[in-house]
Amino acid sequence: MSQTLEDAEKLFQLLPHVRLGFFPTPFYKLDRLSEKLGVNLYIKRDDFTGMNLFGGNKIRKLEYLLGEAKAFGCEYAITYGATQSNHAMETAAACRRCGIKPILYLTAVVEPDEKDVRANLLLDKILGVELHIVDIKPGETEDEAEARSFQMGAERAAELNASGHPCYDIPMGGASVTGSVGFAHGFVEFQRQLEETGIRADYIFHATGTGGTMAGLAAGRKLVENPAKIVSVTVSYKNEAYVKKVEDLANEVLKKIDSPLRVTREDLCIDTGYFAPGYEQPNEAASEAIRLLARTEGLFVDPVYTGKALAGLIDYVRSGKVPQGSNVVFWHTGGATALFAEQEILGDLYQM
Ligand SMILES: Cc1ncc(COP(=O)(O)O)c(C=O)c1O
Repeated sequence: MSQTLEDAEKLFQLLPHVRLGFFPTPFYKLDRLSEKLGVNLYIKRDDFTGMNLFGGNKIRKLEYLLGEAKAFGCEYAITYGATQSNHAMETAAACRRCGIKPILYLTAVVEPDEKDVRANLLLDKILGVELHIVDIKPGETEDEAEARSFQMGAERAAELNASGHPCYDIPMGGASVTGSVGFAHGFVEFQRQLEETGIRADYIFHATGTGGTMAGLAAGRKLVENPAKIVSVTVSYKNEAYVKKVEDLANEVLKKIDSPLRVTREDLCIDTGYFAPGYEQPNEAASEAIRLLARTEGLFVDPVYTGKALAGLIDYVRSGKVPQGSNVVFWHTGGATALFAEQEILGDLYQM
């Protein structure tokens, strides 16, 4: 390991954290899909982080978030998301592992069917969380309903705190500075794998939602001076304010680990071209990417996050935006449970 990496590792050790996952996650070449696409395609298996069957990117964030919650002596943790949120389910699971009581405020972006509860919502119920479903009122937008859920959660947290039951409030996606630190750490882990294998990454593709993963990756890349271009494929509409939010978050991460380095706008590349028609709404390119990966490599991506990111990667390669022969990494962020969600989320997956 280079001196820079050893020094970087030490920065993370100083922050409170709990051990939830199994790291490093595997990193290897996808030979058959590489041949099909004409690039050297590698995968970083954060679908495989553990701590339960479903893993995903949230585990890295939760190691630091719940580490902080425990350091604060919290009895409860509250978080937010859609009814099929991976983040909410993994937060609840991680809370159980840490002996913290989980509370979820979930916005019904897709209306759950009480007689056929599926995927993450089913797991939330098995985990026995204190569950609050926030329906979208007539005339209300998804964002407005979400904002209302944050308000309700903040009130519940205030009530618990006032009655002597400390409660840790985790933002949607775990996209706080503390959460994103986990992904900066993840990039250091990845850099060590690159050095050990002698692989130079030209491009890294991943799915971005709340931006916490993207901010952490950008901060980590800066920390270890990796020249790869990170392409962050969005899973919903985003604007310039989002990029600014991610830039600020990445810089807060660097400050938190006492690094003098800073991320700039030029370090960030977001592509909004692959999410349509909307969050949790399937599209054909993602369905094709899901089938292609399954049928060449026996691996699964999901229709909400990783399928859309992989569709972006495939399109960049096919259209020549990523030159043939490049070394391309697909950072798999998990989300497999969506493959068992409502039909509305799945779309047309099993075409021949
Ligand atoms: C499977 C999966 N991939 C990617 C993301 C996006 O991560 P972030 O919210 O940190 O942008 C999420 C967030 O929920 C996710 O569940």
